[in-house]
Formats: sequence, structure tokens, C-alpha cells
Amino acid sequence: MYIKEIELTNFRNYKEQKVSFSRGVNIFIGKNAQGKTNLLEGIYLNAFGKSFKSVRDKELIRFGEDYCRISSAAEDEENELTTEILIQSDGRKGIKKDGIKVIKSSELLDRIYIIIFSPEDLRIVKDEPEKRRRFINRELCQIRAGYLSDLNDYNKILKQRNTYLKEKSIDYDLMDIWDRQLAASGTRIIRKRKQFIDRIDEISRRIHSGITEGQENLELQYESNIPASDNSEEIFYDYLAAAREDDIRTGTTSKGPHRDDIKISADGIDLRRFGSQGQQRTAALSLKLSEIKIIEEEKGEKPILLLDDVLSELDNDRQTMLIRSLGENQLFITTTEINENVARRLPTGKYFKIVNGEVTSEI
Ligand SMILES: Nc1ncnc2c1ncn2[C@@H]1O[C@H](COP(=O)(O)OP(=O)(O)OP(=O)(O)O)[C@@H](O)[C@H]1O
Ligand SMILES: [Mg+2]
Repeated sequence: MYIKEIELTNFRNYKEQKVSFSRGVNIFIGKNAQGKTNLLEGIYLNAFGKSFKSVRDKELIRFGEDYCRISSAAEDEENELTTEILIQSDGRKGIKKDGIKVIKSSELLDRIYIIIFSPEDLRIVKDEPEKRRRFINRELCQIRAGYLSDLNDYNKILKQRNTYLKEKSIDYDLMDIWDRQLAASGTRIIRKRKQFIDRIDEISRRIHSGITEGQENLELQYESNIPASDNSEEIFYDYLAAAREDDIRTGTTSKGPHRDDIKISADGIDLRRFGSQGQQRTAALSLKLSEIKIIEEEKGEKPILLLDDVLSELDNDRQTMLIRSLGENQLFITTTEINENVARRLPTGKYFKIVNGEVTSEI
């Protein structure tokens, strides 16, 4: 599906704005604080019923107004879909799909997949392990049934165990029960993550070789502090049991997938520690593009991509490569400026200018 048009009323710094999009590339050019991110937020909101920022609904209403409305029309070869979201300052919120009220915002999504790509995603290689775990978790929750509940189970028991480790006297039989449960859900998490990283490894190798013109060999490896083995649930338990005394001393659980990481290397060199900034960003780009490919394969739909301010962080060749490789997806790109060389090499699309909450079509 692609988004045909959107209408914003009293949304953020927009008063009344209707925009018709290209089914290919849409580029929004504007200075800082003009409404670029707000527009992407509006698009996202129409698919998910909520913002990608953690804000209260009320904050989406233009200052001084008492409601906001965001409506959109989307279509593919066979179907048309309209959505409407109305938010009032007293907290009431109404969501409609094809004119009919929907109760859960998850019903909106149906066949629209939206991936947002921001400068933060480009830092995933150099950031701390927690960011890489979050990347895996977010992806697996979307594509693997059961992963979210494994994760919830694991986190719940982990929290209980960590609290209990700080108690004065420890009941080892009780610890034993938790350790068995942690080992069960933890093993499932590690297994699914390993599978996923192997798949990303395969896809990103190809993509990365394309971006670097065959110069670099990217390699991804899931790094667990529990060694892999056929009966790893048993091994996981043994590790937990062996670490108990240490864990009691430190008051925290030292073994398990909550401490795992992904090792990302190029030609055998660990990029997190030794990669140049450019290498780290290019590897991050390859990961993000692989994420898109996986959604396409698993869901059979080309996701719509929102690229907020990503271009300015890449050099001209990378910019062109990125946009070209996504040529068949509908793209929404915001940027403060676009290089003419890049612009000339772009697939056809639409240019927009955003000034103080007003969008004008350039071509
Ligand atoms: N509820 C609101 N009502 C009115 N204006 C708002 C509201 N929320 C945010 N704004 C304003 O919208 C303006 C544009 O914000 P936005 O994040 O879209 O800018 P941007 O064009 O993406 O800028 P940058 O290039 O710096 O990322 C901001 O100056 C902000 O103060
Ligand atoms: Mg912005």
C-alpha cells in the first residue's frame, strides 16, 4: 500500500494542511523547526494511532486549540483505505478506519508497514550493547510470534530474582525454581535471536558488499554469555547456579540474554571498537536495509519508510545509494538541504518545501 494524501488540522505547528504524495520518493526540505519531523509524525500516527515520540496525545494539538484531526487516504491495486484520528483536549480520542470507529489502534495497521529511520539508528554500531538488544527485540516482536511473551516472562522472573538477591537470607529452593524458569524462557530468547542474527548476517553481507563496492566483508555474530549447545536449557541453568554466590554478592544476575550483544565486524575487525565513524555508519545502514528486506520477505509487503534527517549524516554516494536501493518503496525524506548531485540521480518523485507549518509542492 502507499499513502496518497494526508490532511492535518491543528496538528502540532500545522493549522490546516493537505498534502498529496508521490507513490515513490517524497522529499521535504526546510530549515530547522519548520515542521518536518511533525509531518512524519502525522504520517506515522495515521498508521499506528500513536506517535513515535513518547508524548501525551494532548501535546499533539496545536497550541491554543482544543482538538486536532489527522486523516489520510492510502491505496494499492485493489483497495482503498481511509483513516481518521481525532484528539480532543479533554483527552478523548476517536479513531476511524474507512469511516467506521475502531476500538484498538492496532486494527489500523492491517497492511501498512512503516519503518522509521533516524540518525539514532545510524549510531547502533558504536552505541552500548543495550541499543543493539533493543534493535533485535523490536524486530523479533514484529516478526516472530511468541517472542514478546518469552521476553515478558524472562524480564518478570529476572526482576524478581534481582530483588530477591538483595534479601538478607536466601532460600535456595526458591532460587532454584526461578533459575529453572529463567533458563527456559532465556534459552528460547537466545535461540530466536541467534536465528535472526544469522539471517541478518546473510542479508547484510550482500547489502554491505554492494555499498562498499566489494571492499568490505561485514560479519554479524550473536554473542551470548551462555555457550550454545544442544541441551542449552540445562547449560543455562548450570551457569545460573554456578554464578549464584557472585550474584548474591553483587545483587544482580550476571548471566543471561539481558547481557548479550551482537558483534559487528568488517574483515575481522570489531567495528564497535576499531571502526572509523564512516565504517560504523555504513554498517548501520546495511543493518537497517536488512531489516527492511526481512519485513518484505516475511510480510510480502514493501514497507513505507520515513527517513528523518538521515541524509545529512551520509556522504553523497551513500545518499544516492540509499535512495536508489529503496526505489520501489514509498519514501518520505526530510532534510535541511539536498545536494544537487544527489537530486539529479534520484528516481522520480516529489519535492516539497516546509516553512513554518506550511507545505508547498515544488514541482
Ligand atoms: N503542539 C504544538 N503546537 C504548536 N507548535 C508545536 C507543537 N508541538 C511542536 N510545535 C513546534 O513545531 C515546530 C517544528 O517542529 P519539528 O520537529 O517538526 O521541526 P523540524 O522541521 O523537524 O526541525 P529540525 O530540522 O530541527 O529537526 C517546533 O518549533 C515546535 O515548537
Ligand atoms: Mg526534525
